[in-house]
Amino acid sequence: MKRVAVMTSGGDAPGMNAAIRAVVRTGLEHSVEVYGIRQAYTGCLAGDFELLTSREVSGILQRGGTILQTARNEEFKTVQGQRKALRRLNERNIEGLVVIGGDGSLRGALALHKLGFPVLGVPGSIDNDIWGTDMSIGVDTALNTIIDALDRIRDTATSHQRAFLIEVMGRNSGYLALMAGILGGAEIVITPEKAISMDDVAAALEDSYVRGKSHAVAVIAEGASYSTTDLAAYLTKNKNVGFEIRLSILGHMQRGGSPSAFDRRLASLLGMRALEAMLEGQSGVMVGMQGRTIQSVSLEDVTTKTREMTEAYYELARILSR
Ligand code: ADP
Ligand code: F6P
Repeated sequence: MKRVAVMTSGGDAPGMNAAIRAVVRTGLEHSVEVYGIRQAYTGCLAGDFELLTSREVSGILQRGGTILQTARNEEFKTVQGQRKALRRLNERNIEGLVVIGGDGSLRGALALHKLGFPVLGVPGSIDNDIWGTDMSIGVDTALNTIIDALDRIRDTATSHQRAFLIEVMGRNSGYLALMAGILGGAEIVITPEKAISMDDVAAALEDSYVRGKSHAVAVIAEGASYSTTDLAAYLTKNKNVGFEIRLSILGHMQRGGSPSAFDRRLASLLGMRALEAMLEGQSGVMVGMQGRTIQSVSLEDVTTKTREMTEAYYELARILSR
């Protein structure tokens, strides 16, 4: 293999640049040219490829977002779109593709593999909902950002004796909410995986008041069965929990920022390993971190299996919120 391509796809995540850099520099080590595809599958369909030299990936290790940009593309979800993408790759004599992205992007990668094109996946998404890896690129940085926000909000919650409802991202996964709840000292965490009624949330906040706390913080995953806005309205209208209620939706600030040391390391290792695995002839797999090792797992498994939430963390959140 002498010429491969790399793209970042789906939601951007801090550390994607470090992964691009690792793919390019590992390519140089093996005398393989690496082309960057701009704006994910959209750029692939448009033939928007650019040779990435070592200098092009200089100074990007510490930058959030992705220098290749990203996009979501409906046409690529069709077989015709995928064939068109293959045609563009073949026109440029590209022999393999590294896709850095979330579970949707990895579904796209699997589709290309099934059409016979060599593809390697790298998990990049703040949601940590990808099966086959303990952590995805960007999760650690996003968690640090969320915890920092929680700490700041708690300052004002304590000063005003308020209960704050804080919504975090994660799409259908409660991973970020649960971890942020534990690490940020929340009184209650609401995730899509474990239903908690609005009345139970009220009871938990009231319990914090009765036990003499000067504030209460509830962390709510965006994928929970009710919206943070509806919860705030319900509590304000129907319940007197002792604290005044305020809400804060953290939004896209969770996706930006310079990657943490952990994410730089994870992205560098996975980027390097993805290219090496491709040169070894692997395809249709994702490289993931399991314990202290990097493993190849089939994209078929990655896209069909569900990453379970560890029950012990719910228990930890409950006990530490006393
Ligand atoms: P993420 O990768 O962060 O989960 P998306 O779910 O939006 O983000 O997926 C990113 C892109 O991957 C989509 O816009 C689409 O181009 C492609 N994709 C998603 N699902 C599929 C699928 N089932 N088959 C082919 N391509 C897909
Ligand atoms: O997958 C990352 C993520 O930030 C999710 O947590 C969130 O649901 C989604 O992307 C938001 O997507 P967009 O940036 O298109 O609004």
